[in-house]
Amino acid sequence: MKTSRRSFLEATLALPAIMEAAPALAEAPRDAAPAVSKDSSFDPWVEIHRENLRHNVQEISRRVEGRPILAVIKNNGYGAGVTNIAQLLEPQNEIFGFAVVKFHEAMSLRDAGLRKPVLLLGPFDENNLQDAAARNIMPMVYTPQGSALDKVAAKLQKPVPLHICIDTGIGRVGVPYYQAAPLIRDLASRKSVQIQGTMMTFTEHAELDKEQIRRFQETCGTLEQEGIALGKKHAASSFGLFEHPEAFYDMVRPGMAIYGAYSENEFRHTGVLDLRPALSLKARVIYVKKLRARDSAGYNRAYIAKDEVWVATLPVGHADGWPRTAPKGAKVRINGELYPVIAAVSASHCIVEIGKEERVKIGDVATFFDAQPGSRPEDVSEACGASVYDLTMHLNPLLPRRIV
Ligand SMILES: Cc1ncc(COP(=O)(O)O)c(C=O)c1O
Repeated sequence: MKTSRRSFLEATLALPAIMEAAPALAEAPRDAAPAVSKDSSFDPWVEIHRENLRHNVQEISRRVEGRPILAVIKNNGYGAGVTNIAQLLEPQNEIFGFAVVKFHEAMSLRDAGLRKPVLLLGPFDENNLQDAAARNIMPMVYTPQGSALDKVAAKLQKPVPLHICIDTGIGRVGVPYYQAAPLIRDLASRKSVQIQGTMMTFTEHAELDKEQIRRFQETCGTLEQEGIALGKKHAASSFGLFEHPEAFYDMVRPGMAIYGAYSENEFRHTGVLDLRPALSLKARVIYVKKLRARDSAGYNRAYIAKDEVWVATLPVGHADGWPRTAPKGAKVRINGELYPVIAAVSASHCIVEIGKEERVKIGDVATFFDAQPGSRPEDVSEACGASVYDLTMHLNPLLPRRIV
């Protein structure tokens, strides 16, 4: 493959994508010392599509008839960057607030100036509880924490708002539904506590889900009859948006649907929600070459060329979040064509088969997934067995994020 120095420079330096990824370069005043960007133009990057996010939130809101949406932005905002995504979502009226699992994610939302309610779904100790409450972060509670809550409320001189998690069958976290009433009665009786919500999580199992709804409603109903206010009740994640309209309750709690991917492949063609992928993974071709017949590619000769064939190397590997199973059928789009991933995905590279002709060149943009038919996250997922959750949540947090 012939690559002139001129086309190389055009491909690498003059592209708006790169200037946006490194705003310091784009905006450096003329007389200042030249800014140094740590992002190579060949490093992969993640795009977050503002308009698709907005569309997905509106679609969800339509589906749930205007109920508030508690946006799940755990695990680095499903790959988008936890503060990026919160900043994009916060101005939308449909968004009630945010749910995260890691304490540091909750704190970083407040550090970044986000103001909407934040629910901490993950674990915390007594110090964390005090820091969280001081910054208006609501803990999700399901164990007897009454005395810790009393202490924190006394120190802060205000009650601690929280949500209670009831385990109706998932067996992960949450007070078992048959033991929930005494715990909730105890919490509700304390001046230190403000119950702002009560929640459960579906197992996403057709039979048990129905039983979970019954258990949740019975538990909540008993307590409400006693005059205990449970705050906003919520249960529906993305799966629930499709399958359980009877359990939309006072608020819904989706993650993946906001990012525009169907959590189950069978939801794609139901017409229930029109979701548009809001995350893309892209990189530039770093090398193109012709293999001779019987040449191999990848560790352990994972691919052996039957005939002469052009292949392209991409600087994206499993350490970037691209699944090791990609060679089972995933394709990457370059210049509008989809090319199969071959050989093995190593930590920092993968290889695609281009065919008999040299149809791509160094510097061409390769799209691993985006919103286009054929390269949606669900397409990659169907092709190679990695779930859409793996594709987005495993994106390396160090990759540059570009909001487009
Ligand atoms: C408690 C809880 N609620 C809601 C969600 C959102 O799930 P999904 O991304 O499938 O909508 C999650 C994510 O796994 C969760 O753990």
